[in-house]
Amino acid sequence: MQQLIARDYRELSRLAADRVSAVVAEKPAAVLGLATGSTPIGLYAELVARSRAGELDLRQVTTFNLDEYLGLPRTHPASYWQFMQAHLFRHVPVRAERIHLPRGDAPDPEAECRAYEAAIAAAGGIDLQVLGIGGNGHIGFNEPGAPFDSVTRVVDLTAETRAANARFFARPDEVPRQAISMGIRTIMQARRILLLASGEGKAAAVAAALTGPVTTAVPASVLQRHPDVTVIMDAAAAGLLPAAAGSGR
Ligand code: PGA
Repeated sequence: MQQLIARDYRELSRLAADRVSAVVAEKPAAVLGLATGSTPIGLYAELVARSRAGELDLRQVTTFNLDEYLGLPRTHPASYWQFMQAHLFRHVPVRAERIHLPRGDAPDPEAECRAYEAAIAAAGGIDLQVLGIGGNGHIGFNEPGAPFDSVTRVVDLTAETRAANARFFARPDEVPRQAISMGIRTIMQARRILLLASGEGKAAAVAAALTGPVTTAVPASVLQRHPDVTVIMDAAAAGLLPAAAGSGR
């Protein structure tokens, strides 16, 4: 596992964009696993800037997002579909038919989950999966206790996660109680993983994930078992790591 500590959020975003750009340069038709949340917003802004500058060609990539709220149609302003449109897809030439997010309003969510896994497999698997980390150590919406062999499925959101995401909704009780999320196994099958963490609110989760035991109680700890993980964090998120760790730049 490679650990990089960025000076600030801007550098974190640039370093993350360097990783994504390198994968796409090596394989123009790369399959990218993408994440929502506050953390990757700077990465997406950087990708948009590089795409506009002609430094990054996203025309052949395929994308699969980690998750979507159950029950929200793509038109809902707090849907992850809308988030991805606003921060990335509206501004870059990724082809519409190559953009994948689970449909929150699928009439048969279980069938939607199976179809999502099948679509990832049909695309040849994920070349690079971008991840944030929850304050509780979640990856995607795989909350503590999620089995390591889980695949895309309907999951319950914890009270902590619903509270953390309430800022995107008009009222806290509007936050959905469930989501469709890639599973831990789905994430672990990606050929490379890029974990991003910013701010002191993530420091405990980062330390537990990177240096604690591998346990379903800290879903991100499973990444210790993946052969190709890069963690990019700012100093605040790295604040509880042992002193020697994280100096791998
Ligand atoms: P955040 O969320 O980027 O908004 O902090 C990360 C996560 O919960 O996975």
